[in-house]
Amino acid sequence: MKGGIRGLKVSQASFILIGLVCATVLALAWTKTTFLTSFIPTQGLVVQLDIGRGKALGGNNNTVQTERTQVESLGSSGIEQPAVERGNTEKLMTTKKGDEAGPRETLEGNNVSVPKKKKQVESSGSGMEPAVDRGSNENMTTTRKEIPPSVPERTGQEELSGGKNISKQAVMVPEKTLSGESPVKREQPRNLSAVTEKKDCNYAKGKWVFDDSRPLYSGAGCKQWLSSMWACRLTQRTDFEYEKLRWQPKECKMEEFTGSKFLKRMQHKTLAFVGDSLGRQQFQSLMCMVTGGKDRPDVLNVGYKYGLVKARGAIRPDGWAYHFPSTNTTILYYWSASLCDIEPIDISTRDTDCAMHLDRPPAFLRRYIHNFDVLVLNTGHHWNRGKLKSNRWVMYVGGVPNTDRKTVDIAGAKNLTVYSIVNWVNSQLPLFPGLKAFLRTMSPRHFFNGDWNTGGTCDNTTPLAGGKEVLHDESSDPLTAGAVRGTNVKLLDITALSELRDEGHISRYSIRATPGMQDCLHWCLPGVPDTWNEILFTQL
Ligand SMILES: *[C@@H]1O[C@H](CO)[C@@H](O)[C@H](O)[C@H]1NC(C)=O
Ligand SMILES: *[C@@H]1O[C@H](CO)[C@@H](O)[C@H](O)[C@H]1NC(C)=O
Repeated sequence: MKGGIRGLKVSQASFILIGLVCATVLALAWTKTTFLTSFIPTQGLVVQLDIGRGKALGGNNNTVQTERTQVESLGSSGIEQPAVERGNTEKLMTTKKGDEAGPRETLEGNNVSVPKKKKQVESSGSGMEPAVDRGSNENMTTTRKEIPPSVPERTGQEELSGGKNISKQAVMVPEKTLSGESPVKREQPRNLSAVTEKKDCNYAKGKWVFDDSRPLYSGAGCKQWLSSMWACRLTQRTDFEYEKLRWQPKECKMEEFTGSKFLKRMQHKTLAFVGDSLGRQQFQSLMCMVTGGKDRPDVLNVGYKYGLVKARGAIRPDGWAYHFPSTNTTILYYWSASLCDIEPIDISTRDTDCAMHLDRPPAFLRRYIHNFDVLVLNTGHHWNRGKLKSNRWVMYVGGVPNTDRKTVDIAGAKNLTVYSIVNWVNSQLPLFPGLKAFLRTMSPRHFFNGDWNTGGTCDNTTPLAGGKEVLHDESSDPLTAGAVRGTNVKLLDITALSELRDEGHISRYSIRATPGMQDCLHWCLPGVPDTWNEILFTQL
């Protein structure tokens, strides 16, 4: 039994041994043979590769998706807009422009000295987008068929036409060479310390004095730039005492303006006015001051470089740009009455309302700010229901219609826009270190015994009848002053000093004003806006 058991065990053991040897030999042969080896790892490798590729692809996919999402979200927030839309936007803006020219439009306005404090809407901030919207638009440059004559062809009649003579076709095409990528940058926090440290002197405080060295140019001249409707020397007006006044700041030294000093300081530089018709007055005033009102055939109209060309059938372009080759200096003006972005709601038709994006800067500014060394902004007199309605502007906030109209009254909407544009410009300053930005305060109206449309007048011809001095420190335009406080945008505070100049308006002598209606909003040139430019110049 024992032997039998042993015999079994021996045979079993030998089977096991043989089995082991065979297995070892097989295993060795397997691993050493190329043909056989090819079978072993295949599955494992496939799995491994799949995992690896899966990871790699997954990673890539994620990246791609993230980028796409960003692009889409940028697009939806209004940064990336198709060039076509933008073209149309501007086309409509041009089209609408006629509206602002009417007497109703131009004379109407909120009274600056009565800032209302009402319920405000929080600025979402989402709409004041950084300047990313360049690329595609700039590439669609082109044919500029019409280059307007260097003399802005304007008459009172055109201004009077009140938008009937609207453009059929706008050629708002940006010049390719002006394109430039601008880094994306979010709003900068307001730098309170910077402002408290640097206490600029207050040019708004001071007094008016008679000075025979004024005016700085003749109102009978400067025909190259001065609109006849604002050249009171060309009207029936006979009193010109108002031309002889000079502003004397109380606490600051005011540098004497000369055209050559200005041009020298602005060598290789560009100064841009962006605002309403009062901004345009300041622009014309500066052109006359710089040239002394003399003809300058060497000065070039370079409006086309900024898309500022008069469309066929349009009353005028959206602005003007002039280049002084002698010093490589450009001075331009762009019409943006509200300082916010205006965009047609239905781009397929010209008969559409326009979205007035309260929290988004004008497309023109976003596109060209990188070209500017000095920027002077203003808004004010278009913030009333009548103007919004006649321009067919519908208020938008955060990219959507502001349905809560009761909470955004006109004063609130204006405040939101002014703060938004200031914050946006302030956020751009670090990107363009040479840029000096100013926000001009409101130009006061002087309608006595009525308003612009109810027989209001400004008949006084005696300068400074109501006083000649401004002695208070606070701005008479607290909304505008408040908006720039704590930012690096400077305040060009002209409200109080201009309030003393009720005799300086166009008054009854406007070419455009219909009988019984006076223009107590715009100023005679030469006149008060020259002083605004002197105060600007001394800060450059
Ligand atoms: C204007 O808006 C700012 C910022 O939202 C706010 O702090 C300020 O109180 C508002 N001012 C007025 C006069 O409504
Ligand atoms: C004119 O000024 C611009 C900057 O505004 C500069 O890029 C350009 O090179 C200047 N041109 C000349 C001829 O100096």
